[in-house]
Amino acid sequence: MKKSISDGSLYFKLKSYSQTDFVPLHMPGHKRNVSLLGDDIPYSLDITEISGFDNLHHAEGIIKQAQAKAERLYNSRHSFILVNGSTCGILAAVRTVTEYGDEIIMARNCHKSVYNACTLNNLTAHYIYPPMDKKTAVSGSIYPHDIEIMLKTYPKSKAVVITSPTYEGVISNIEEICRIAHNVNVPVIVDNAHGAHQAFVDNVIGEPVACGADIVISSLHKTLPSLTQTAVAHINGDFVNAGDFSAELAVFETSSPSYVLMASADRCFDILAEHGVSLFAKYGKRLADFDEKMKNLKNITLLCHGADCVYNHNFYGFDSGKIVICTKDCGISGVELSERLRREYHIELEMAYSFYAVAMTSICDSDENFQRLIAALSEIDEKLCRNTTQVNSFNVPALQQSQYSPASLPKNGEILPLEQAVGKISLDHIYAYPPGIPLVVAGEIISKDFVEYIRSLEMCGVDVHTAHGDLTQIKCF
Ligand SMILES: Cc1ncc(COP(=O)(O)O)c(C=O)c1O
Repeated sequence: MKKSISDGSLYFKLKSYSQTDFVPLHMPGHKRNVSLLGDDIPYSLDITEISGFDNLHHAEGIIKQAQAKAERLYNSRHSFILVNGSTCGILAAVRTVTEYGDEIIMARNCHKSVYNACTLNNLTAHYIYPPMDKKTAVSGSIYPHDIEIMLKTYPKSKAVVITSPTYEGVISNIEEICRIAHNVNVPVIVDNAHGAHQAFVDNVIGEPVACGADIVISSLHKTLPSLTQTAVAHINGDFVNAGDFSAELAVFETSSPSYVLMASADRCFDILAEHGVSLFAKYGKRLADFDEKMKNLKNITLLCHGADCVYNHNFYGFDSGKIVICTKDCGISGVELSERLRREYHIELEMAYSFYAVAMTSICDSDENFQRLIAALSEIDEKLCRNTTQVNSFNVPALQQSQYSPASLPKNGEILPLEQAVGKISLDHIYAYPPGIPLVVAGEIISKDFVEYIRSLEMCGVDVHTAHGDLTQIKCF
């Protein structure tokens, strides 16, 4: 059969885009770098579980060998390749350590998959609010002391769930958090979706497998050379049974896993084993060169890069692969900056928010990618003016939780525009994607202050919505 490619097809659009000169400072971590990685992932490799090709859900052959490569690389007891992203690993992880109706302690800046896991298991979540970095409005590290207090206040909690590194690259002290939680026999789940590369970085701190976390879920596709949707989960320690985790994975992960995706995860492990040291050394040099050249920016500031460093913030650690470009003091929003980079410089960032935008880098970013970002930021910086009065405050108003557990929330409610939902209990998560962290969680009471905050995000160009639609349709009661 002849290839059928129409101008309106997704394939055509992807193919055309791949021929442009856009710099991909976003996921996936392979950066479409075919000169480094090859260009041979075709239909001819797309099979199902035929004889000799093992079974992801009961791996005993070639897939088990691939998972063993991950166990060696990450020094983990059990590693599982995932083909439905970190999302399926997070859902399975929370279900492995909790029973229906349990309580858990989780960071309020967790990804929506953690909230969805709470809904599925009807968990009462006790939130830890990470402190906000005053200079940038980025959420900071989780304090181990806060975990200790929460574990004392809610002794029935069955697990602690936190994200490290965050979308913006902030790392928490996982070692200390694990020590505290393990003291009271509570397992720690680390959403390490943004940290699959951490294990290969020199002098890294807070790498969760090494720090003793019980379940660690990392998206290979975000920061390493592997295809979109690939991830890996590691089970360690004595609190979690790998067989139980595997049984839960079977609930959330497709029973027809793509061999193309699994092959790319396997290749990623091979690349790391054979060339990881040299690729990360080169990457480290590119980042150091970037920092050097960005030291003299006058208006834009870069979080923990250029003239800034981690000690200026109350962070335990920072992932230097993330470049958070802060616009708070120069009169434009993060969204405007990212649009400018796209329009004028053909640089596509990972995400843009009210007062910052995030570029994601990886070992697959070429010198040229970095040089183009350096040139663009330097030029934009020259044209901007310092304007420290622009932002009054970026305090995020806290929301009150209702008494309802996820399962006791009614299924149906009123559909109201945001302003009319003030005082009502939301039946939906309200969030900006990316980063996919709910601004309002189902069960929280929508306040006037919060509506104003959401509208101020929108004024900056941030797209805020619910799982059902836009802000004219908030499901509440
Ligand atoms: C912090 C965090 N956790 C989990 C996920 C889900 O990862 P995946 O897209 O691999 O399912 C994301 C996705 O962006 C994320 O940012």
